[in-house]
Amino acid sequence: MGDLTRDGLMAGIDAPLQYYESVESTNPLALNWLKDGVSAGAVVIADEQRLGRGRLGRHWQTPPGTALAMSFVLRPTPDTAGRVTMLGAVAVAETCEHFGVTDIGIKWANDVQVQGKKICGILPEAVWEQSRLLGVILGIGVNIRTTFSGELAQTAGSIEALSGQVIDRNAFAITLYHRVMHWYGRMRSPELFDNWRQRLTTIGQQVQVGDVAGQAVDVDESGALLIRTDSGQTQRVIAGDVLIT
Ligand code: BTN
Repeated sequence: MGDLTRDGLMAGIDAPLQYYESVESTNPLALNWLKDGVSAGAVVIADEQRLGRGRLGRHWQTPPGTALAMSFVLRPTPDTAGRVTMLGAVAVAETCEHFGVTDIGIKWANDVQVQGKKICGILPEAVWEQSRLLGVILGIGVNIRTTFSGELAQTAGSIEALSGQVIDRNAFAITLYHRVMHWYGRMRSPELFDNWRQRLTTIGQQVQVGDVAGQAVDVDESGALLIRTDSGQTQRVIAGDVLIT
């Protein structure tokens, strides 16, 4: 069930599409495609990544037959580029909902979780030509039925095991594609920010991000997390891993 195929994907994605059974990583392929001038909305999809890239130089697992690795070519304006990860997280959450998954939340900034376990990773990569933004690659990896062991199993999970739903990966990829493109056309809209903010489970929690500790009280429209520290000051954090304390 749920075999990913080029034909299955092309049945629902009417855009330039590269599909691979196995690649090192979909992001550099999309980066090269972007530099070659492909239009926004082009997408690279793979069944397996042998050298998947995670945030902060980490490895991202995409074993064959279990996950989705998608890299979207987007061409936002520089002032909206910061919203690319926000739109990715909202699109994944909406796609999960579409497939009947419940208990979905976003851990700041863009970790989509089901029952508190991370089921998706998002890696944006911007491409600049001198001071001109050529575009942004939005890399999204979704754990559909990947299994995790050891320490990773404490924090990461897969949609099928957590939700009890059987997911057709072609159908999931097609819905995700259309949710990404929906929000790509509305990057400036307050609805995107509101949708993301309402899904954030981090607000209200005691957190530590780098050396800033306190209560996460809100986010601002740029996506930054606002943390009220014990001294009563509010600090704005723009990136980092959240530790719930
Ligand atoms: C994270 O560490 O949370 C981000 C992981 C991003 C993984 C996706 S899978 C598709 C794209 N290709 C990669 O090599 N990485 C991103």
